Amino acid sequence: MTELGTESARLEIIGDDDVVRVRQLARSYAQQVKLSLVDQTKLVTATSELARNTLTYGGGGAAEIGIVRDDHRTGVRASFQDSGPGIPDLDLAMTDGWTSGNGLGLGLSGARRLVDDFELDTEVGRGTTVTVVKWSR
Ligand SMILES: Nc1ncnc2c1ncn2[C@@H]1O[C@H](COP(=O)(O)OP(=O)(O)OP(=O)(O)O)[C@@H](O)[C@H]1O
Ligand SMILES: [Mg+2]
Repeated sequence: MTELGTESARLEIIGDDDVVRVRQLARSYAQQVKLSLVDQTKLVTATSELARNTLTYGGGGAAEIGIVRDDHRTGVRASFQDSGPGIPDLDLAMTDGWTSGNGLGLGLSGARRLVDDFELDTEVGRGTTVTVVKWSR
């Protein structure tokens, strides 16, 4: 996936406040690259869900958010990393309505639909990294 440039920031995710900060940062970069209001909201919603998962299931972690560019487009990339338990069955975890906890089971599947690029790396016992990109059009 496209590498983050200099316009990026890293945030620890250890509490509820950090989820709010992730949302604010995602919104700010989304405005900088002139995403439409609808796309801004899609990106912010996706990052919010992923940050929440990092906190709830990953036991905390970090987010890296910033502006990405390729030859034709500008976008916002957000990456969430934790060193938690990992996801044993990814297909199941990506299924609408499946939760191992008390959620709605819509965070991961919803986030995937809301962004343009979605990448999930996970290993049981090692942790999980989810990276998403929303491109401006
Ligand atoms: N970072 C993570 N580490 C370990 N497991 C995860 C992680 N993120 C998601 N999961 C697993 O994937 C499942 C589905 O995640 P998803 O976000 O779709 O639903 P949820 O968090 O359970 O509910 P919702 O997000 O709708 O409130 C979770 O219940 C959990 O078992
Ligand atoms: Mg969730």
